[in-house]
Amino acid sequence: MSEILKREAAARAVELVQPGMRVGLGTGSTARHFVELLGERVRGGLDVVGVPTSEATRVQAEAEGIPLTTLDETPQLDLTVDGADEFDDRLRLIKGGGGALLREKIVAAASTRMVVIADASKRVAGLGRFPLPVEVVRFGLAASWVAVEKIANRFGSQGPVTLRRKGDEPFVTDSGHHILDIAFGAIAEPETLAEALSTVPGVVEHGLFIGLCSAAFLATDEGVVVVEPAAG
Ligand code: A5P
Repeated sequence: MSEILKREAAARAVELVQPGMRVGLGTGSTARHFVELLGERVRGGLDVVGVPTSEATRVQAEAEGIPLTTLDETPQLDLTVDGADEFDDRLRLIKGGGGALLREKIVAAASTRMVVIADASKRVAGLGRFPLPVEVVRFGLAASWVAVEKIANRFGSQGPVTLRRKGDEPFVTDSGHHILDIAFGAIAEPETLAEALSTVPGVVEHGLFIGLCSAAFLATDEGVVVVEPAAG
């Protein structure tokens, strides 16, 4: 059922793509539907270029026949379509459940418009139920971990900060970093928390996407609802 809803949201987003657009291609199980549907349109003659937000998406987009470019060749994009782990009414997001948050944020920030596609389970009254991913360089991991823990405690985290693992080994991102997940439970002040995390030298990026998303296409049992950011 959920896959059907994800595809419906992706189908609405693919309608936004116009000939000649430069498109950021998100990562995750929902974005995967978007890349598939965009591939269909490309094979039908649509002229676009894409910038993938992960190696997994790059592999998929290549298989779909979507022409790809890089942000070095094409530093400004028209539209990015990506999934999210959570979003609130102001369209503040938590991303990085799939580990691609760094490239996802760089691509979203380079885009005139970022649209999130999701099923209704991703909409929350307040962020923080989904553990907040924080990408850290490998050098000095233990020191960065302590620094992130201090911030997590200061901001009222209800759970631990854990190093993400893949099997027995620490998870390694496409850019060669590790991820710490903060089990906040609830995040009272996302903006201030985002600023605090960015002050830790070993932190490359965190999964709070604030002021980047302009609309969410939310697939519900009653159809796709377009959510615009509430003032706040
Ligand atoms: C990848 O790092 C994430 O930010 C994904 O965009 C997010 O986890 C959403 O993934 P799903 O669409 O698979 O839920």
